[in-house]
Amino acid sequence: MAHRLLISIWAVRLKKVCRRLAGSALLQDEDLVARLLDAAVGAVDAPVTLKTRLGFENGRENILRVAKRAEQAGIAAIAIHGRTREDMYSGEARYELIREVKESISIPVIANGDIDSAQKAQRVYELTGCDAVMIGRAAQGQPWIFRDIEHFLRTGER
Ligand SMILES: Cc1cc2nc3c(=O)[nH]c(=O)nc-3n(C[C@H](O)[C@H](O)[C@H](O)COP(=O)(O)O)c2cc1C
Repeated sequence: MAHRLLISIWAVRLKKVCRRLAGSALLQDEDLVARLLDAAVGAVDAPVTLKTRLGFENGRENILRVAKRAEQAGIAAIAIHGRTREDMYSGEARYELIREVKESISIPVIANGDIDSAQKAQRVYELTGCDAVMIGRAAQGQPWIFRDIEHFLRTGER
């Protein structure tokens, strides 16, 4: 019940931010993204990280350009959900595009999307060459998943 409530609040929020050209809707305006990244990095002493999707629409994935621009702006690390905004949560996360990003920039890349077990985390590390993984939905109701993954990657034991 609590989970369902959280998810519907997120869905309402997603509609609101996209209507206002915020969140993933921003991916339609790369110049604005670049200006926001420059401004954010310039405004604080702390490391600034970016979390984003592959693009706004399928067929117009612009994550490679956005990631390169983020690196230029001085972003410290980039987390990528392997779907477009159009995908919402449908289909499977596309890890091959996250790998392309990883190979084209030098800042740490954090892979995100559909990681729900230690074995899946290991596969995503292998498929993407990423520096870290990010977990959303699978941590809801099982917050120990992070410990399980760390243990499995370190020891190979479940
Ligand atoms: C309840 C909920 C809230 C979320 N809030 C945000 C958010 O504020 N910002 C964001 O970038 N992504 C948000 N996400 C998306 C997740 O960070 C993540 O990218 C997405 O769920 C895919 O990863 P997963 O398959 O591990 O869940 C949210 C997801 C859920 C389920």
